[in-house]
Amino acid sequence: MLTVAVLISGAGSNLRALLEAAADPGYPARVIVVGSDREASGLAHAEEFGIPSFVVPWRGAAEREAWGDELNAQLAVWQPDLVVLSGLMRLVPPAVVAAWSPHLVNTHPAYLPEFPGAHAVRDALAAGVPQTGASVIVVDDGVDSGPLLAQERVPIEPGDDETRLHDRIKPVERRLLIDVVRRIATGELDLTAAAAS
Ligand code: GRF
Repeated sequence: MLTVAVLISGAGSNLRALLEAAADPGYPARVIVVGSDREASGLAHAEEFGIPSFVVPWRGAAEREAWGDELNAQLAVWQPDLVVLSGLMRLVPPAVVAAWSPHLVNTHPAYLPEFPGAHAVRDALAAGVPQTGASVIVVDDGVDSGPLLAQERVPIEPGDDETRLHDRIKPVERRLLIDVVRRIATGELDLTAAAAS
């Protein structure tokens, strides 16, 4: 059974989808802990599913390294097989990447390498492109630059605004995440090999 830590900042809808998938006895992974950089509303999903959680509060960019060390210390308590960044709105410091990558994956609401960064949905709309997408990647030291594990296109429709488009991308992100975690758990997807390619 693959053990998973999920790190969030917001509503945690992707976290919830993973918790629901993992509630199926046939699913080969379990979320063992949820972490956040703030008192995120999504922590309520962990509570509802009886999963422990922790908060390592973000104290500003000047303390980024110390924040990363604290995050590493929390994760080390749980020793997950995999750490999933799912809406964690912080770039994790190099010490976190060094400790966990390639067993550190991130979901992103764009078809990487298109539109990396914190405003992927807004940037896709501003670019006037006909389609964007969703991706799951291994986290490396860059900004959304790690090896791709899965991705899918999402068309942009007339009248889309950031919320409406993001609401259509998120279900795709959830489906990709659940499938990637399943494939990692079954050994179908080898993160070390994926990161090396
Ligand atoms: C997702 O689109 C994630 O990729 C992005 O923020 C969103 C998180 O949503 N960076 P939620 O917290 O899972 O609802």
